[in-house]
Amino acid sequence: MTEDEVITALRTAGCVFAEEEATMLIKAADDDAALRQTVARRARGEPLEQVVGFADFAGVRVKMRPGVFVPRVRSELLVREAIRRTAEHAVVVDLCCGSGALGLAVARQRPGIMLYAADVDPVAVACARDNLTGVGQAYQGDLYAALPRPLTVDVLLANVPYVATTHIPLLPAEARDHEPHSALDGGGDGLDVFRAVAAEAPAWLRPGGVLLSEITEAQIEPATAAARASGLRPEVVTDEDLEATVILAVR
Ligand SMILES: C[S@@+](CC[C@H](N)C(=O)[O-])C[C@H]1O[C@@H](n2cnc3c(N)ncnc32)[C@H](O)[C@@H]1O
Repeated sequence: MTEDEVITALRTAGCVFAEEEATMLIKAADDDAALRQTVARRARGEPLEQVVGFADFAGVRVKMRPGVFVPRVRSELLVREAIRRTAEHAVVVDLCCGSGALGLAVARQRPGIMLYAADVDPVAVACARDNLTGVGQAYQGDLYAALPRPLTVDVLLANVPYVATTHIPLLPAEARDHEPHSALDGGGDGLDVFRAVAAEAPAWLRPGGVLLSEITEAQIEPATAAARASGLRPEVVTDEDLEATVILAVR
């Protein structure tokens, strides 16, 4: 396929950044047959990152694969706040790690940390293991049940699913059709998984240790209430440019 043909195929499929995406797809494909396949996948709406096999996130290149949640630019706030609170040899947990992007980005800035990542989805765990080779360990299981014990945690990153169930149909098709439902759906008000994580956080965090999670603006009040109910001291940080809100909850 010529570059023009790729651009036309992407444009026809409704890709807004057809030129840029064409350049990436052409660069990533080994031969014309592979290019045709990846263009077709992208034209069917699969996220570009899953198609080319990587995402550039918070200064790191993260390996991706089909069916794994694509790290969002807004989560750079979560990483930034985590790095600020991560000492040289801290114990850092990336719970609900997906591809492992968040932990990887923190470890890039704080190479001396002990990093433990965990996710319930075996495909995500395989992807995280790929990304965290030589950086940290990735475990499979339900929330904390996946982690080795005993473990005293300094920084607990948990970018949990936090979309309210009724809002799932409003998500872009890329997310709805190509990311697992379990990576997105946070239950009635979107905070079911966050509440479960906050409830058990005091048992894992050292005194002064911090839980960090991304939430929506509408979730600030119930999320801070849940953190307080768990005995944690919540604080909220927002970044208007990233359109991101993060709750930090200190033990
Ligand atoms: C919003 S995605 C975040 C992924 C990654 N942290 C990131 O920011 O790119 C949420 C992740 O939580 C995982 N997850 C959902 N429920 C879980 C549970 N009960 N225990 C562990 N992981 C879970 C999903 O598989 C998904 O990978």
